Amino acid sequence: MPEQAEKCLEVRGLGAGYGSLQVLWDFDLEIGAEESVVVLGPNGAGKSTLLKTLLGLLPARTGSISFFGRRIEGLRTSQRVRAGIAYMSEVGIFPELSVEENLLMGGYGLPRARLRRRIDELCQLFPEVARTRRGPAWKLSGGQRKMVGVAKALVADPRLLVLDEPSAGLSPVYVSSVVEALARTRREAGPALLVVEQNMKFLAVAERVYVIEGGRLRFQGTVPELEADDSLRRAYFGLQGA
Ligand SMILES: Nc1ncnc2c1ncn2[C@@H]1O[C@H](COP(=O)(O)OP(=O)(O)OP(=O)(O)O)[C@@H](O)[C@H]1O
Ligand SMILES: [Mg+2]
Repeated sequence: MPEQAEKCLEVRGLGAGYGSLQVLWDFDLEIGAEESVVVLGPNGAGKSTLLKTLLGLLPARTGSISFFGRRIEGLRTSQRVRAGIAYMSEVGIFPELSVEENLLMGGYGLPRARLRRRIDELCQLFPEVARTRRGPAWKLSGGQRKMVGVAKALVADPRLLVLDEPSAGLSPVYVSSVVEALARTRREAGPALLVVEQNMKFLAVAERVYVIEGGRLRFQGTVPELEADDSLRRAYFGLQGA
C-alpha cells in the first residue's frame, strides 16, 4: 500500500530559537507513517524547542517540515492540529476542568456522536481514564494526569501523536504504566508516535531513536545501535536506575 511507504514527518535543516538565542541547529528527523520514534537528550538540549517548532508554537528560522508530503512549516498551530498532529506538552491537561471535559476538548469541533464514541473507545484502552472520567482533573495523581493527557491527545484520531516528556514527575511505577498505555495504543494500530524523553523505559516503544545534544542531532538509529555506541551507552544507560 502506498500509505505504508509514505513518510509521516520529514524535517530537514530545522533551525529555531528565542530572540538572539539559537537553540536548534540544522536538525533532520524522519518518521514513517506508522513508526514510533523516541528523541533522547539532556536537559536544555532543545527537545521541547524541537516539538514547539514542529507544532508551530515557535517559528522555524531555517529548514522545512513536511507532514505526509505537505509542507507545513508556514502553517499556524491550529492548521497543523487539523492536519492530524496531536501534542501533549510537559503540562498535559487542564486541572480546572473535569476529566470528561478535558477529553471533550481534545476533540473540539468533532461531531458530538463521533466524539462520544471515540471517548468510549479510549476509555476501553485506558482503564485509568475510565475510572476517573466523571471526576475533576485536579484530583488525579501525576500518572493518571499523564494517561488522561495521552487519551485527550488521541481523541481527535491524529495521524501523529507528539508527547513531551510524558515521564516528567512520575514515579517508576507510573512511568511503566504510561509506557504500557503507549504500547497498547501502538498495538491498536494507533498513530505514528514522536516521544521526547529522558527515561530509557520509553525505548520499549521506540522503533528508532534520535539523540539531540546542544540543539544538534548527535545520533539516529535503532535501540541496538544506540546500545552499541560506547559513549552514548555510558551517557544514557549509565545513569539508568541511579
Ligand atoms: N521561552 C524561552 N525563551 C528563551 N529561552 C528558552 C525558552 N524556552 C527554552 N529556552 C532555552 O532553550 C534551550 C533549550 O530548551 P528546551 O526547553 O528546548 O530544552 P529541553 O531539551 O526540552 O530540556 P528539558 O529536558 O529540561 O525539558 C535552553 O537553553 C532554554 O533555556
Ligand atoms: Mg523540555
